[in-house]
Amino acid sequence: MENEELVLKFMKNTELCSECIIDKIIQGNALEVLEKTPAETFDLVFMDPPYFLQLPPKKLKRWNVKTEVDAVDDKWDKFASFEDYDEYMRDLLFKTKKVMKENATIWVISTYHSIFRIGKIMQDLGFWILNDVLWLKTNPMPNWLGVRFTNATETLIWATKDKNAKKYTFKRELAKTFGVGSIGANVWEIPICGGKERLKDAEGNKLHSTQKPVELLRRIILTSSNEGGLVLDPVAGSGTTGYVAKALKRHFTMIEMNEKYVKGIQDRFKKPLTQFK
Ligand SMILES: C[S@@+](CC[C@H](N)C(=O)[O-])C[C@H]1O[C@@H](n2cnc3c(N)ncnc32)[C@H](O)[C@@H]1O
Repeated sequence: MENEELVLKFMKNTELCSECIIDKIIQGNALEVLEKTPAETFDLVFMDPPYFLQLPPKKLKRWNVKTEVDAVDDKWDKFASFEDYDEYMRDLLFKTKKVMKENATIWVISTYHSIFRIGKIMQDLGFWILNDVLWLKTNPMPNWLGVRFTNATETLIWATKDKNAKKYTFKRELAKTFGVGSIGANVWEIPICGGKERLKDAEGNKLHSTQKPVELLRRIILTSSNEGGLVLDPVAGSGTTGYVAKALKRHFTMIEMNEKYVKGIQDRFKKPLTQFK
């Protein structure tokens, strides 16, 4: 695939066909793109939405050395209120549900700031929660203010479209190779993304503040999809989902509204993919 062919710029009010969205990064607003995407298209969804961290306008300082913390203060993470955030998440999840195949599953990840709200919204929309998986970060960011426990976890909710969806994909034997112990437990120890894996922009800064580790996506995609399946990430960021899906011989559709990240994903795809077993 030529790299230029990777990106599809979404034109408002244009219907998208099932074939033209395969192995594409769609540059546009997911809330609009999903409305124009054919129903029941995807086998698996991974969603890493804004967290609504509600950080104070002033930069946070480390409690001991008083230097500034490189926090997630991006525009895309800002909402006026919990009501606004809930409305956004409800809309995003509702439209995503429509494009999932009958037996597809969805993974949604977030921190304590919003995962409980997301869980409630998912249940209200009829999703059926199969598991919550705890991502235990082996190298978490310390609590810089020193006023509470270091937050070393993010929670993933794994769900089917509804209670009656029984024939979803789950690779039980593979699941046993992950997790604490050897019984396929729902606690995954994985370091946060760093070193060579961390993508940089032209100025040498992090391309994306919340790039997820390849290993996290590897576990998700391997255990809950089959080769040749179509994986959707409606809020793609640096494109980890599609990058890993391709390496694992799955197809992908990613949606991202920020042009800088879309360009970053294009560059990422120019580099040879790490192949996984
Ligand atoms: C938490 S980040 C995803 C990070 C990603 N998982 C990775 O590994 O890099 C959320 C992303 O969603 C994008 N986003 C938020 N709302 C969106 C929308 N309505 N349509 C498309 N992209 C959106 C933001 O620009 C941001 O890059």
